[in-house]
Amino acid sequence: MHATEFTTPAREEPDDRFAAVVAGLGTCLPRTEIRNAWFAERLDTSDDWIRARTGIATRRRVTPDVSMTDLACAAADAALRSAGRTTVDALVLATTTPDRPCPAAAPEVADRIGQGGIPAFDVSAVCSGFVYALATATGLLSAGLADSVLVTAAETYSRIVDPADRSTAVLFGDGAGAVVLRRGTARETGALLAFDLGSDGAARDAIHVPGEREQPEGERWFTMAGRKVYLRAVEHMTASALSVVKDCAWAPDDIGAFVAHQANARIIDAVADRLGVPSEAVVCEIARVGNTAAASIPLALADAADGGRLEPGSRTVLTAFGGGLTWGSAALTWPHLTPVRSEI
Ligand code: UT7
Repeated sequence: MHATEFTTPAREEPDDRFAAVVAGLGTCLPRTEIRNAWFAERLDTSDDWIRARTGIATRRRVTPDVSMTDLACAAADAALRSAGRTTVDALVLATTTPDRPCPAAAPEVADRIGQGGIPAFDVSAVCSGFVYALATATGLLSAGLADSVLVTAAETYSRIVDPADRSTAVLFGDGAGAVVLRRGTARETGALLAFDLGSDGAARDAIHVPGEREQPEGERWFTMAGRKVYLRAVEHMTASALSVVKDCAWAPDDIGAFVAHQANARIIDAVADRLGVPSEAVVCEIARVGNTAAASIPLALADAADGGRLEPGSRTVLTAFGGGLTWGSAALTWPHLTPVRSEI
């Protein structure tokens, strides 16, 4: 599905049409750091292999007393502070590592950050979850159901990867990020100008955590067909990102910041290369946090903004790929904002 159903197609000149506008950005990372050497002491792997094949040097992991919902609350609260707001009209939470199957975590997050009563629900699109949640929130704003929406992504993959499986255990970190969206116009910096979303359920087994009916006995760990996912990620993120660039009538070398889902530095480089994005525009922050699934794009945005790599007005492309299979992209101009970070 192309998100032109949510936002009217972008034209070459900014105008006063409706757009969701990014107004604040917050993050939360667990304090506990797990370096590659920690895995090399326990599994048949090495710092060299992990760095060379993925770009990851270290990642954060929650301690047993910290929940996904705790991370989500801290990131959501930080995003509100970044936006200079105390209230929002709705909350959408992207996660595939909920603390429980039912109910969704979003109403609890809304309640705990002092926003009880607002519409709040979870979105489950694995590593594409943040982009799906952005599009969903844009739909709420466009439909007139809210004037502001808190979009939060929080994950605790350390709880679902098999600690004995070197092919997945080394890849993931825990964390959360959130943005505040408000009603605005395409003319404003921070405006989300185009979306593209897609899925392929025929390949649902490529990234999988079995349910009780699928696997009645034993531990139900996360599995991933790494090579297959790698190839599909490059193919779909390239096509999806190109779609939003075209919707905005931008050229690839106009892109000031290219922020792909942070699963593997080699995938990010391959997609950027195929698109023709200038290398200085490519944001790759995976070394310090690993793959944080749905949380990876807002975490990378905060690092890029703090590092001076996102200038107000920069033409910014987000693209993601994950289990489902799902993929999605968004194009925006970068707003004036200061990210607020927290740790737990
Ligand atoms: O976030 C959701 C989307 N996820 C992704 O986009 C991830 C996509 N996939 C990848 O990033 C990469 O496929 C991986 C990082 C998972 C693996 O890298 P690769 O270059 O595709 O390696 P491979 O799976 O082809 O495996 C190469 C070898 C294998 O050994 P053999 O069969 O050649 O003897 C693996 O058993 O590397 C081995 N291997 C490891 N060796 C040392 C796999 N994991 C490890 C490890 N340490 N941690």
